[in-house]
Amino acid sequence: MSEKPCNVEDIKKAADILINARHAIAFTGAGISTESGIPDFRGPQGLWKQYSPEIATIDYFLNHPKDFWLFYRMRMSTLFVAKPNRAHYAVAELERLGIIKAVITQNVDGLHQAAGSKNVIELHGTMKRAVCIACGRTYPMEVVIKKIDSGQIPPLCDECGGILKPDTVLFGEPVKDFDRARELALMSDAVLVIGSSLSVYPAAYIPIFVKEMGGKVIIINMEPTELDYIADVIIQCKAGDAMTLLLREVKERLGIQQ
Ligand code: APR
Repeated sequence: MSEKPCNVEDIKKAADILINARHAIAFTGAGISTESGIPDFRGPQGLWKQYSPEIATIDYFLNHPKDFWLFYRMRMSTLFVAKPNRAHYAVAELERLGIIKAVITQNVDGLHQAAGSKNVIELHGTMKRAVCIACGRTYPMEVVIKKIDSGQIPPLCDECGGILKPDTVLFGEPVKDFDRARELALMSDAVLVIGSSLSVYPAAYIPIFVKEMGGKVIIINMEPTELDYIADVIIQCKAGDAMTLLLREVKERLGIQQ
């Protein structure tokens, strides 16, 4: 894995694209949150190197809800205490500056919103909530954690006794808000991809849609991705470093005092 410093020329090229874009969006994955202490899935320390991704399928959840929740409870112990990092804050500031119009994320950790991003589409749902698979009632995850920690595993709906499921998208379930995300991508002339292996569909269609409409694709990722071949600029370094430099470059060009 590349721990090398970000290439300054690539940062300048990325800033050029963003400054000249009429409608730019960000598309993010687990790699933007590793610097907040949340492991990604397919990086060198990724979750799928320790566990089989089968555990995140809807079939596994329905057949082994107790084992699923024991795994998820363990994941939530890092997810719940995590704070946004420099990359999340830089994305939020690019939105405030009007450079980025929306963030489409595969992450369920809520860190974009915590950093101040307003227009966020969570394609894979959110772990801040759970939903009853029988009646659809939703519960804040804090309430569900209390149920689990007091021994109710799997946690059950107070209303109908149905099994609760995190309001995240498991493999085998449809993604959320995809039509809105696709519309945004199709009207965009630039996409800033941060921290995704770009290997999970339909989410990874988002940068492809932008490219197909003639837009530019910037990829910030520590390792090569599955879609490097469609990228106009590839910045291979840590998201926190890259986004700090990119934000500085954009602000300089906008004449904003730093
Ligand atoms: N800076 C830049 N890149 C990083 C950093 C970092 N600090 N840390 C990790 N990365 C890179 C990794 O090298 C990896 O290529 O981020 C990428 C993360 O890729 P994945 O782990 O595949 O995460 P993601 O693309 O979000 O996965 C998509 O898969 O299992 C599902 O539902 C889960 O939403 C997730 C989906």
